[in-house]
Amino acid sequence: MTINRKGIILAGGNGTRLSPLTKAVSKQLLPIYDKPMIFYPLCTLMQGDIREILIICKPEDKSSFKKILGDGSNFGLNIKYALQKYPGGLAEAFLIGEKFISDQPVTLILGDNLFHGSSLSKQMKIITKQKTGGTIFAYQVKDPERYGVVEFDNNENALEIIEKPSNPKSNYAITGLYFYDGSVVKKAKSLKPSKRGELEITDLNMLYLKEKSLKVEIFDKGVAWLDTGKYDSLYEASGYIYALQERQGLKISCPEEIAWNKGWISGEKFYEIAKNYGDNEYGEYLMDLYRKI
Ligand code: TTP
Repeated sequence: MTINRKGIILAGGNGTRLSPLTKAVSKQLLPIYDKPMIFYPLCTLMQGDIREILIICKPEDKSSFKKILGDGSNFGLNIKYALQKYPGGLAEAFLIGEKFISDQPVTLILGDNLFHGSSLSKQMKIITKQKTGGTIFAYQVKDPERYGVVEFDNNENALEIIEKPSNPKSNYAITGLYFYDGSVVKKAKSLKPSKRGELEITDLNMLYLKEKSLKVEIFDKGVAWLDTGKYDSLYEASGYIYALQERQGLKISCPEEIAWNKGWISGEKFYEIAKNYGDNEYGEYLMDLYRKI
């Protein structure tokens, strides 16, 4: 059987910590320097050659996401939308996305997580081909108590993952990028809501871990993981993108560029898209790329 790994971007939630920015606008549509936030997780999935993508968002935000991403054809993708009325937890993505997943392996990425680094694409592509089990990523942080934290044995085998522990047993936080096999829906269905009333991704990961089918990989030092859920981290993420782009003259997470490089859209289509952006730096960047061939 050929595997067709699906991708889900979880772009609901209340964005309470970013209020009043998020009072009228979804967090994942806020700018990270020159692009809407959702471009970044979208491009991470694209780098892993994942082309069938489900965006889960709040009902009131669907039309805005559709305005920006459409049916995905401008990026050589097939994008579908599903709604989450109330934030019932990260693992709820697999219940909402059950039909879309249709027993295929699936990669979930949080809509407010930004990953960047040269080894990321290679790592993504290898895991994308995985048929069984789950793979998640750990990243060293100075404030692990804000995240799911993994405890490793001396050989870097994961022993336990604890959600927002008050006394973290390591500095390794689980990032918002999760790869699972087709059994994820069944597993998610067996979860019970936590004390805070959510279906916890940590509980799902623990099911895989108990089955000995979960790999917890540590990201290379060269990979940056930024989460953009607070004012300071949102600001830092914009600064990070600005600094790198200014220095290199290249855009980070430009989905049209990735689609074109991968041969998912034609040169004519790329030119059309560049022209439609009109007179702004983003459109000029695309036009310059087009002229360089
Ligand atoms: P969080 O940052 O945990 O939650 P939030 O975005 O609602 O923010 P706040 O805590 O400030 O209220 O969510 C991480 C990501 O997952 C974010 O992109 C929103 C998304 N999310 C959902 O789409 N549905 C959910 O049920 C939850 C819990 C999060």
